[in-house]
Amino acid sequence: MSRIIGIASQNGGVGKSTTCRNLASVLSREGFKVLAVDCDNQASLTDCFGIENPEKLEKTLYHLMMDIISDNDIPQKGDFII
Ligand SMILES: Nc1ncnc2c1ncn2[C@@H]1O[C@H](COP(=O)(O)OP(=O)(O)OP(=O)(O)O)[C@@H](O)[C@H]1O
Ligand SMILES: [Mg+2]
Repeated sequence: MSRIIGIASQNGGVGKSTTCRNLASVLSREGFKVLAVDCDNQASLTDCFGIENPEKLEKTLYHLMMDIISDNDIPQKGDFII
């Protein structure tokens, strides 16, 4: 069974990214398979995981959303093997 945990607040600088980063790390260390999805265009979470220059990534959540809005083909379940 999978669970989705959302971390959100309208307040800035209250520890959203830090909480997400630490939670993902601890759950992973406990043996859970974790997918951390960074929905913040500041990309702090992406940065936390050591991905430099995220604005240069070829595929991001932004690109996926734009493909959906533009009615372009999007990856289907099973297209990726992780
Ligand atoms: N539990 C904590 N104790 C002390 N400092 C913390 C704690 N959690 C986060 N911080 C610090 O507070 C600052 C803001 O944290 P963070 O970037 O996670 O907030 P945020 O809510 O994601 O900010 P933003 O709204 O800009 O996205 C950082 O410098 C972080 O290191
Ligand atoms: Mg943040």
